Amino acid sequence: MDVSPSPERRSSDPRPFWLAGRPAMGDAEGTVTNSHDRRVVGAYSIPTAEQVEQAVAAADAVRGQAAALPLHVRAEALAHVARRLAERAEELAQLISGENGKPVFWARGEVGRAVSTFRFAAEETRRFSGEVQRLDTEAAAQGRLAYVSRVPYGPVLAITPFNFPLNLVAHKVAPAIAVGAPIIVKPAPKTPLSALVLGEILAETDLPEGMFSVLPVPNERAGALVEDPRLPVVSFTGSGPVGYAILDQVPRKHVTLELGGNAAAVVLADADLDWAAGRIALFSNYQAGQSCIAVQRVIVEDAVGEEFTEELVKAVGALVTGDPADEKTQVGPLVSEEAAVRVESWIKEAVAAGARVLIGGTRDGATIAPTVLADVPADAKVSCEEIFGPVMILHRVGSVDEAFAAVNDSRYGLQAGVFTRSVDIAFRANRELEVGGVIIGDVPSYRADQMPYGGVKESGVGREGLRSAMADLTYEKVMVLTGLTL
Ligand code: SIN
Repeated sequence: MDVSPSPERRSSDPRPFWLAGRPAMGDAEGTVTNSHDRRVVGAYSIPTAEQVEQAVAAADAVRGQAAALPLHVRAEALAHVARRLAERAEELAQLISGENGKPVFWARGEVGRAVSTFRFAAEETRRFSGEVQRLDTEAAAQGRLAYVSRVPYGPVLAITPFNFPLNLVAHKVAPAIAVGAPIIVKPAPKTPLSALVLGEILAETDLPEGMFSVLPVPNERAGALVEDPRLPVVSFTGSGPVGYAILDQVPRKHVTLELGGNAAAVVLADADLDWAAGRIALFSNYQAGQSCIAVQRVIVEDAVGEEFTEELVKAVGALVTGDPADEKTQVGPLVSEEAAVRVESWIKEAVAAGARVLIGGTRDGATIAPTVLADVPADAKVSCEEIFGPVMILHRVGSVDEAFAAVNDSRYGLQAGVFTRSVDIAFRANRELEVGGVIIGDVPSYRADQMPYGGVKESGVGREGLRSAMADLTYEKVMVLTGLTL
């Protein structure tokens, strides 16, 4: 269907939202500003309550047709999105960088990942066949065979965060389409523009009307969507308090929560210190630390403590900071000045409690200088809460035992990184660390979009990553065939 917005649209015109696969305008507008230079990046139209109702009704109406969509139709739609994202990559990277403030270097990386996310989903869709299980393993079931398929729970409400305005939307939309579930996306109010472009691309496909809507409503209006019984699945990525409030609001719904963490990187005495310092410096500060798996806690074995600290501080000092639009910038501003003020106050709190600033610690508008703190008390917020800023704390330990205990001394458990060359220690880390993902030889921030991703403890429930998300959005249904000669 050709429903793309008119090419005459001027860049200052508000973008339409997507109501059941079609562009629509509401009766109010929002604007998006860049946190670095405060320029207006774009405007968007906000749906009325009636339009939201139409989107939910359309998702509900199409649920049967969506679940029955042939796999090749779903796979083709997903492959089309991957192709079009790749074709519009530079435009999207500029938009992401503009609305989120992340350096264009990282924004390009995000678009590349979103292309892969849709491509992986297209591939997984073609493998989404269910399985056959012979039941004649018992005499009583002789002649019987089970066909086990996966059936979508139904329409999905996706509530997405500002830190990856495209790829974390992709991680909800792509698996929903793959399993045949209609989806309604409520993007983060600070960064809705990339999701609206994704809507534009989805509208170019042959997906049935009602299969997707992108509704940039303010957060205060999300509660009604969460509550709506026609949306049996809520998939949320964001902060713990909001995530758990959703779970409390709808305890009988299928709720997936991708929440935060205070990710640890362990540097053991046998590690390649140069590699570890470079990776930790970069991935504590990438996207100004606004990733749930950015390195926040660095746990280093005493034997290499001095040498490693020196290398780390040097590597942090070498990071290129500044204008996110500049090709060379590695660390830009946070999403807003308000966010930076909060991070600064946490640094000050730690320093008042005895922490030492090894580098950074300052704020300029929305930008926090890449910061390394040492001697941080365990109860300081920078230590035990999720900082979501370019700040790491250094913690020295005497042994592997102590290092692993320190990683686990957190109410979060998303991913952990362990720099070691020992396979034994790698497997031990995998056994002992209470996290959803253990990354050996690299930072906790490593994520391949096809692998399972999600946390334990207060980092959330459920898993994303295409195959895992497809399982998460569906239930197993069994059909038994009787009277067969096998
Ligand atoms: C997140 O912040 O949870 C997502 C991290 C990523 O996709 O790299």
